[in-house]
Amino acid sequence: QTEVIQIDPIRPDPAIIARAAELLRSGELVVFPTETVYGLGANALQADAVEKIFAAKGRPYSDPLIAHIADEHDLEQVAIDIPPIARDLARTFWPGPLTLILPADPHIPRMVTAGLATVAVRMPRHPVALALIRAAGLPIAAPSANRFMHVSPTTAQHVLSDLSGRVPLILDGGPCAVGVESTILDLCSDVPTILRPGGISLEALRAQLPAVQAPVRRVPNGEDSHDEQQAQKSPGQMLIHYAPAVPSFLIEGSGATMRATMLAEVQRRQAQGERVGVLIADEDLATFQQSGAQIYTLGRADEPEQIATHLFAGLRILEESGVQVILCRSFSEQGLGLAIRDRLLKATGGKIFPA
Ligand code: TXA
Ligand code: MG
Repeated sequence: QTEVIQIDPIRPDPAIIARAAELLRSGELVVFPTETVYGLGANALQADAVEKIFAAKGRPYSDPLIAHIADEHDLEQVAIDIPPIARDLARTFWPGPLTLILPADPHIPRMVTAGLATVAVRMPRHPVALALIRAAGLPIAAPSANRFMHVSPTTAQHVLSDLSGRVPLILDGGPCAVGVESTILDLCSDVPTILRPGGISLEALRAQLPAVQAPVRRVPNGEDSHDEQQAQKSPGQMLIHYAPAVPSFLIEGSGATMRATMLAEVQRRQAQGERVGVLIADEDLATFQQSGAQIYTLGRADEPEQIATHLFAGLRILEESGVQVILCRSFSEQGLGLAIRDRLLKATGGKIFPA
């Protein structure tokens, strides 16, 4: 009973938008494309609409949601005591993949904020998302439109494979351009701190706000942050957030050494009779082409935008290919590379090779 409607990602048909907006106003869920990943939207001002999000995803109520707006002035609908720096950052990076943590308006349902005194807000830049939020005339609460613990969806097909029968409507605007979720910046802590690296790089934020604190470094095996407070501030950021359907490892190192390590591990596992998948870059292709491994190539390693765009699709394709283990190459941490490493660590559950 899930309807999928194709929609032009650049000039969305107003009749389709009107229908989807009407569903949102009546308290229903609508899946829509954003520039980062697909979102599972509900009226952010209506607690029982928001509750349906958690039911559809199987997500615990302790994990707060992002409120999506379509106009900077709508900030006042969800946040209070908005600091000037929030407006400056919004002017530079909105619409776009930056989420700001601000003091919550007390009228925002606890279902959205998980009872925190803060709220996450962003203005997406995808024309379908903007048109939908405007037509609904509401802030839209939306997490990524995947089942809890799964990789975020970057196509309508990904959404359907996770949420078929659990949502009435999916707007299919094609693949998402950015491919990793928004950067979450906490403006309520003493020092502005990145809680989740994402589509806006640390370097870009620092150019405007030099004090920005880099995200807490994740270390292997789930013990990423012994800092309880940090874990509670952004519950979804714990390393256990994704559970890879297939055991996966992040191969450390770079260049020819990394490739040699990875190939040796592929061959060792194949010798034990295992079917192995590799998530690699263009320059690794020659090394693995004859290896017998299932291959997914993400693009050029020195173009993190390309890698990010294809990352989640690659993980899903390898997961579904019937391999018993996935080995992922690592990338430089510059620019979007920081978000790419973060998602690879989540997807591998923090398992790094060699350990
Ligand atoms: O790109 C994105 O951000 C996508 C698209 C759909 O906009 N959305 C997304 O939502 O990734 P979600 O729910 O999958 O991730 C939002 C994260 C959660 O991990 C949550 O812990 C964090 O934002 N978050 C939400 N409200 C927060 C708050 N008040 N303080 C700290 N973290 C918060
Ligand atoms: Mg998510």
